Amino acid sequence: MQRTYIADLAKNVGQEVLIQGWIHVRRDQGKMVFFDFRDMSGLVQGVVLPGSEAIETAKNTREEFVVGVRGRVNERPERNRQADKQNGSIELEVLGIDILNTSEPLPYNVHDDTLGINEEIRLKHRFLDLRNSRLQKNIRNRDAVIHLVRNTLHDQHFIEVETPILTKSTPEGARDFIVPSRKWPGSFFALPQSPQQYKQLLMSGGVERYFQVAKCMRDEDGRGDRQPEFTQLDMEMSFVERGDVMALNEQLLISIVTELYPEKKIQEIPFPRISYKDAMAKYGNDRPDVRNDKNDPNLLAFCWVVDFPFFERTDKSDNPDGKGEWTYTHNPFSRPLPEHMANLIEKKNIGDIITSQYDIVLNGFEIGGGSIRNHEADALHTVFQILGHDGDKIEKDFGHMLTAFKLGTPPHGGIAWGLDRLVMLLQNEANIREVIAFPKTGEGKDLMMNAPSDVSEAQLKELGVQIQPIK
Ligand code: AMO
Repeated sequence: MQRTYIADLAKNVGQEVLIQGWIHVRRDQGKMVFFDFRDMSGLVQGVVLPGSEAIETAKNTREEFVVGVRGRVNERPERNRQADKQNGSIELEVLGIDILNTSEPLPYNVHDDTLGINEEIRLKHRFLDLRNSRLQKNIRNRDAVIHLVRNTLHDQHFIEVETPILTKSTPEGARDFIVPSRKWPGSFFALPQSPQQYKQLLMSGGVERYFQVAKCMRDEDGRGDRQPEFTQLDMEMSFVERGDVMALNEQLLISIVTELYPEKKIQEIPFPRISYKDAMAKYGNDRPDVRNDKNDPNLLAFCWVVDFPFFERTDKSDNPDGKGEWTYTHNPFSRPLPEHMANLIEKKNIGDIITSQYDIVLNGFEIGGGSIRNHEADALHTVFQILGHDGDKIEKDFGHMLTAFKLGTPPHGGIAWGLDRLVMLLQNEANIREVIAFPKTGEGKDLMMNAPSDVSEAQLKELGVQIQPIK
């Protein structure tokens, strides 16, 4: 018999059906046994009537057993109907139960909200945690967001291109995770902090409209809205200006909210734009929470922060002039605003150069950022000079970018969203871990897999790696 999903049972009143799933609740009342059965589509009440052939098996089952249940879909008598509940008007009269797997008692109750449960226990048994309805909603809605984004971008002639995970250190500002190379002892790959350079090189490669749901790795300390491994919705476009990228992304965010979260309200459309200077003066930070009612869980206050300074002084007190050196505020590949290009080329008034960077902020969280890029080799070279890199280092680290830019790379720009962060806010979760299927702890561990972990002596030897105690 073909399986029927629990959500479709009400369409089968009077029919005999087969459902497959878990025993969510079991109440043995002697002559009768009552159940709630669960599958990915929901819950239904079942009953084994006195004298039924299924009674013996029913008595041998426990919660979280996996079962196939043959039964008849009956309408409930009027007085037993529960209009506010899924399948509240029907009941499954159980005719036969096939036990597909048993379950020992679970280490904790996954039916009620698990937020109050010790998180180490939850993360150690993440596969159980995921059975909880809140977690199920989070990962299913996350999928819905990604699905909508993929469809919308494909409709707009973007293609998704995967970029390497084994790559080279990139200047994204955080510490790299590194991977030793067996074939080249003493050499290391770095895991990507973002696909920044690859996506720009895809523009050189004529892709024109790229996106990727991309894994990014940054070895930084955890925070409620930060994970060492996270997902970006990354995109890049050729022949665009700042306004084009911002308009497309604004529309995409509006579609996500209106189509997938109709209960939520966007405070202001078009999204307000605030300069970095005004944000700092008015809110004291560059990711302002502009909500006019902070108690409303369904209010989404998006804003763009623009006009960031390109460079800022590093705090190098040992520098002879006492002033320190320059570092970039966001992304060394960004292009200054057109009216600031001359200062860059002439290396004049460096602290006043404004970049084309735009950050998208939601309810006080930075959910994305991007810029128009410096697609001319000389201008990019100048940026690296200002950052204090000498010619050899520029060539060694960024020679491939400079070469590409000398060989017909179109003007381009893009953005990356912190997808986990966005979904966390849309799902009204306080921690990014709640919207990631298998997250790391605040200390950067995977408690379920027990990673990171040691490796065998033989593996280390093969890699030419020796462990030394860290002082
Ligand atoms: P940026 O470094 O600003 O830009 O990253 C883009 C967005 O990614 C999210 N994010 C994180 N989310 C969770 N955990 C983390 N550790 C973490 N770090 C960043 C933030 C952030 O806004 N290549 C550029 C983008 C571009 O210029 O196109 C980049 O990576 O929401």
